[in-house]
Amino acid sequence: MNMPSLEIGALSCALPVIQGGMAVRISMAPLAAAVAKEGGVGVIAGSGLHVPELVSEIRKAKSLTDGIIGVNIMVACREFKQLVQAALQERIDLVIAGAGFSRDVFKWCAEAKVPIVPVVSGERVARLAEKFGAAAVVVEGTEAGGHLGTDESLKSILPRIVEAVKIPVIAAGGVLNGFDIAEMLSAGASGVQMGTRFAASVESSAADEFKQTYVNAKPEDVVLIESPVGMPGRALLTPFTRKLLAGKAPPPNTLSRCVACLNHCKKNYCIIDALVRAQEGDMEDGLVFCGARVGEISEILPVSEIIKNLVREYEEKMNLGVAQPCVGS
Ligand SMILES: Cc1cc2nc3c(=O)[nH]c(=O)nc-3n(C[C@H](O)[C@H](O)[C@H](O)COP(=O)(O)O)c2cc1C
Repeated sequence: MNMPSLEIGALSCALPVIQGGMAVRISMAPLAAAVAKEGGVGVIAGSGLHVPELVSEIRKAKSLTDGIIGVNIMVACREFKQLVQAALQERIDLVIAGAGFSRDVFKWCAEAKVPIVPVVSGERVARLAEKFGAAAVVVEGTEAGGHLGTDESLKSILPRIVEAVKIPVIAAGGVLNGFDIAEMLSAGASGVQMGTRFAASVESSAADEFKQTYVNAKPEDVVLIESPVGMPGRALLTPFTRKLLAGKAPPPNTLSRCVACLNHCKKNYCIIDALVRAQEGDMEDGLVFCGARVGEISEILPVSEIIKNLVREYEEKMNLGVAQPCVGS
């Protein structure tokens, strides 16, 4: 059985797979374009970038493919409005807004006739997003990499969100292969969003050291940390997260100058600095965000191969008829 397409507003995506936006500078034009070329939705992470860099990445991605390119921007960013409006001006195909809820973004996207897809972790916010005009919602369970809005598993939240809204629901968090995709679609999702698997791709803009840390990771190396954004975050145990967990992370302005990048920052450490360091390959002082199943990734693959595997595994599971709804499991 072939994978179904994913419809978001007027967009029709050949594969029901969104590559999750990953800041800072993990999912840039090369990764987004590679995923879009294969029929998925490629997403550039705008958080931590300034407008000119985001514009340049969008233009680069669009020059590489006619496929669907979106941006993911965290509501918590001080430059959220400027970044979203710049992306809309560049005729981006869709906007995904994570880490917080913005009423304004619905208006900006409606005016530009661009679908807006908020990231949610519960029914209340999913319903609110639908009421404000969301074209779809990404529901993220606790298995996801990066900032987390819940401690509930994706399998337990997903059926409730599917029940709560009529718009397409995209399942995110711990989706690693085509078997998982079959399971999520059987549970009512219209598509999946995958981060960790694509961060460890050839086209991801993470440094080789970052990708190798993923490949070397064991399941027990995954920890929850406190982000200055005011949310927990899922990351790998590294010298930096060890310091953080011991309450000894360097405060802002120690390693680099504070640029006030967040609307509200707890200032326990500089998250942008730590994320940039990880992306550049500093495994000592860098913060390596990852999903709960990073320990199952054993190789860095080109996007074309990752997608080929997803399709093969999906078809294998569906043809065997073993995909069962995960309601209540
Ligand atoms: C390194 C990394 C960075 C991320 N950065 C962002 C981000 O900037 N904005 C966002 O909404 N989600 C972010 N996420 C979450 C992903 O977009 C995606 O929803 C999540 O990783 C899905 O779970 P998975 O990693 O188990 O596939 C990040 C995840 C990772 C692993």
